[in-house]
Amino acid sequence: TGRRDLAGKTVLVTAGGTREAIDPVRYLGNRSSGKMGYAIAEAARMRGADVILVTAPTALPLPTGVEVIQVESAREMFEAVLKCFPRVDIVVKAAAVADYSPVRKSSQKIKKTKGALILELTPNPDILLELGRRKEKQILVGFAAETEELLANAERKMKEKNLDMIVANDVTCPETGFGSDFNKVTLVFPDGRTKELPLLPKKQVAMRILDEVVMLPRFSELK
Ligand code: C5P
Repeated sequence: TGRRDLAGKTVLVTAGGTREAIDPVRYLGNRSSGKMGYAIAEAARMRGADVILVTAPTALPLPTGVEVIQVESAREMFEAVLKCFPRVDIVVKAAAVADYSPVRKSSQKIKKTKGALILELTPNPDILLELGRRKEKQILVGFAAETEELLANAERKMKEKNLDMIVANDVTCPETGFGSDFNKVTLVFPDGRTKELPLLPKKQVAMRILDEVVMLPRFSELK
């Protein structure tokens, strides 16, 4: 399409699954492929936005025509996102951010022993929660990947994190979610509206999310 409805806007997208180092060769990770976030970055670029993609490791080729910041851990993502935030209009947080990281990163590869290995984990900063506290003009879009109570959990996160929209994603559905090229999501808004989208390719889900962003009342207040 020829829509340039994001021209003049800066869109920050996070994507991929963070990795929390255990030792020089091991990490705690998750099943995020990065496909949803990369599709959003690409869609925003096509609609004329200046795009910043803060990406955790993925198997995908890096997109062209966007500013790419590669990070590994949740802490690194936190720092990159906060640094960019003042110059951003719209944030879409599609990354799967680890909730915990090891308290200590061993400087040497941990050796195998007969006994149990106990890893002590500490909570990571919640990036979106922090953005919600700091937000001024910015529009914040979050994702909620859930295995139960999809809409109730999504709504709670939207309120808690002061979001303008949350994309609720049932990750128990085998055709969709992690790794798939397709996704089935429900968009949830602060006024209580919900919009259930059909099963669609992630590229089309990305377009539909941006369609809703440009229709938000707060979008017209961006300069
Ligand atoms: O992990 P949770 O289900 O709360 O994630 C909901 C939203 O918050 C997602 O958009 C995710 O990217 C974001 N998040 C974050 N920082 C975290 C955890 C989640 O920005 N530490």
